[in-house]
Amino acid sequence: MDKIARRALLGMGAGAAAYLAHHALNQGSESSMAQERLAQAGRVINVYSARHYDTDKALYNGFTQQTGIRVNLIEAEADALIERIRSEGSRSPADVLITVDAGRLWRAQQAGILQPVQSRTLTSVVPANLREPQGHWFGLSRRVRVLIYDKSKVNPSQLSTYEDLANARWRGQVLTRTSTNVYSQSLTGSLLAIHGAPKTEQWARGLVQNFARSPQGNDTDQIRACAAGVGSVAIANHYYLARLIASNKPEDQEVANKVALFFPNQRDRGAHVNICGAGVVAGAPNRQAAIQFLEYLVSPKVQEMFAMANYEYPVRSGVPLHPIIQRFGNFRGQNVNAAVFGRNNAEALRIMDRAGWR
Ligand SMILES: [Fe+2]
Repeated sequence: MDKIARRALLGMGAGAAAYLAHHALNQGSESSMAQERLAQAGRVINVYSARHYDTDKALYNGFTQQTGIRVNLIEAEADALIERIRSEGSRSPADVLITVDAGRLWRAQQAGILQPVQSRTLTSVVPANLREPQGHWFGLSRRVRVLIYDKSKVNPSQLSTYEDLANARWRGQVLTRTSTNVYSQSLTGSLLAIHGAPKTEQWARGLVQNFARSPQGNDTDQIRACAAGVGSVAIANHYYLARLIASNKPEDQEVANKVALFFPNQRDRGAHVNICGAGVVAGAPNRQAAIQFLEYLVSPKVQEMFAMANYEYPVRSGVPLHPIIQRFGNFRGQNVNAAVFGRNNAEALRIMDRAGWR
């Protein structure tokens, strides 16, 4: 995508996005595409998505332009979608499930609603740690669980790791969301893979001791509370800060200006990275088209727009980043397979519960 197109994309509304998707993605050979369209005419895939961005719809239109396959989008919350596909059973019209957090994708896999997929494109583009080894699901974009700190109270040299937040020196300072949230569960699940249960429980107990308040709200609320002086360090996904930075509301600007972002564990294994990802549904009526759709979502231009929609990092390497997250600087992400967060989910929950993490 050229510079002007990218600039347009950054400030885009749905109309601009649709325009861009049409023009940026429709540059293949016209005649071969026309043939493809004829062959695929009348085909539809049903995409069940927990993402709600206008720009995604523009991308799906781009897929239709390229292949002639229409995308019927069903949007709902992740757990509701998983439950719906499960209850529809073998009669489910769903072809693709898109949702966030590997913990949830794993849950969907456990529920038996995803099928393994073999695609050379997907395995070559999506790093091995960001997809399920048998191909039940694939990461489409990356999100990093970071530390957001109050610049007036914390010097970044005092910050180091997730583990360090359990140190008594952070008493009354740490803000995070509840243990019922999948982000908390996946972070704890990743620590479990690295340190084992006893050490992880010790960490969770220390962290709970250091809570600034009883956990409440979403990641944005943690950042707001940090800026308001309720605590001095918040655990949050990076894009929540990016959204505040991008906001034109003065109150959001005020919050964004009070805090800064820190990538933890850069001197050891790297920061906790999770995904927004997708899998092909077990009884997909249109399996081939569903695979084609996933392959389309990891193509370079689509990756750029898909990730930018939520200030995320693309899974494909060499794809331009949104300028706001570019300013966060480089980071090292941990090389733990995202499937581990799901596998460890139940034990992570028990540990958080025992530690008193509400
Ligand atoms: Fe989120």
